[in-house]
Amino acid sequence: AADGYTIKLTSGYRSYAVQDKLYDYYMDTKGEAWTVQYSAPPGASEHHTGLAADVSCPSMGYALDDSFADTEEGIWLRDHAHEYGFIIRYQEGAEDITGYAYEPWHIRYVGKEAAAVIYEKDITLEEFVRDIK
Ligand code: DAL
Ligand code: ZN
Repeated sequence: AADGYTIKLTSGYRSYAVQDKLYDYYMDTKGEAWTVQYSAPPGASEHHTGLAADVSCPSMGYALDDSFADTEEGIWLRDHAHEYGFIIRYQEGAEDITGYAYEPWHIRYVGKEAAAVIYEKDITLEEFVRDIK
């Protein structure tokens, strides 16, 4: 906000029941190929932990899609999230490691120390846990 941007949380904590409904809804409306790339099955979502947040901005109408990455807010988030202890959890080009498609809107709280390492080394949380510890 101090830099003049509006970033709002559109989804934070989600219960098993909510993720279950969401997953079924995606399966029905978008199909399996899309759903397995963009949605964790119930019980396996980071959103269950309360440490994950989906965020967007006014110019997107608060929608969540790839073009958020090109908005001023999406660029700000990419460059500054780590200063607040968050990482962009599902990075472009890391789909084979994270198991999910690029989600420039999904941030995960890991604390400032881990976030700084993950940002500076440009690695995933999986690589951080495996190699850095
Ligand atoms: N979109 C992420 C992968 C989730 O459903 O938790
Ligand atoms: Zn998310």
